[in-house]
Amino acid sequence: MNSYFKDKSVKLFLGDSLELLKKIPAESVDMIFADPPYNLSNGGFSCHAGKRVSVNKGKWDESKGIEEDFKFHSKWIKACKRILKPNGSMWISGTYHSIYSCGFALQKQGWHIINDISWLKSNAA
Ligand SMILES: C[S@@+](CC[C@H](N)C(=O)[O-])C[C@H]1O[C@@H](n2cnc3c(N)ncnc32)[C@H](O)[C@@H]1O
Repeated sequence: MNSYFKDKSVKLFLGDSLELLKKIPAESVDMIFADPPYNLSNGGFSCHAGKRVSVNKGKWDESKGIEEDFKFHSKWIKACKRILKPNGSMWISGTYHSIYSCGFALQKQGWHIINDISWLKSNAA
């Protein structure tokens, strides 16, 4: 696997996570932190620094509908389960647009969900 960036303690890989994850040995990872798309880019608007701005971040953030979004989350979560050690853990970032889909995928795949950690952003914009 070619790395995109490497120093003494960190190696970064650039690519499709579903392909890269296949190259990592089974049950070899202690902890995974995942920040998958939140599927927020729906053509709407938000407020940034007092100005109206588009919420669109790119094609990668557009929802393909709840079934397809769920299939995507199920796929990468399954790929993570393969490489995680049996006593490993995974942290997943999300918003309400995405996190329940991830949660349902985790439940369907038999993960043990320990905690929800909420970040209160009273005025996210
Ligand atoms: C919520 S953002 C995460 C941003 C990241 N935490 C950061 O600080 O840059 C989701 C990211 O997942 C990337 N992405 C979407 N599908 C992917 C895939 N199949 N493989 C790898 N990255 C993917 C997107 O390009 C986007 O940068």
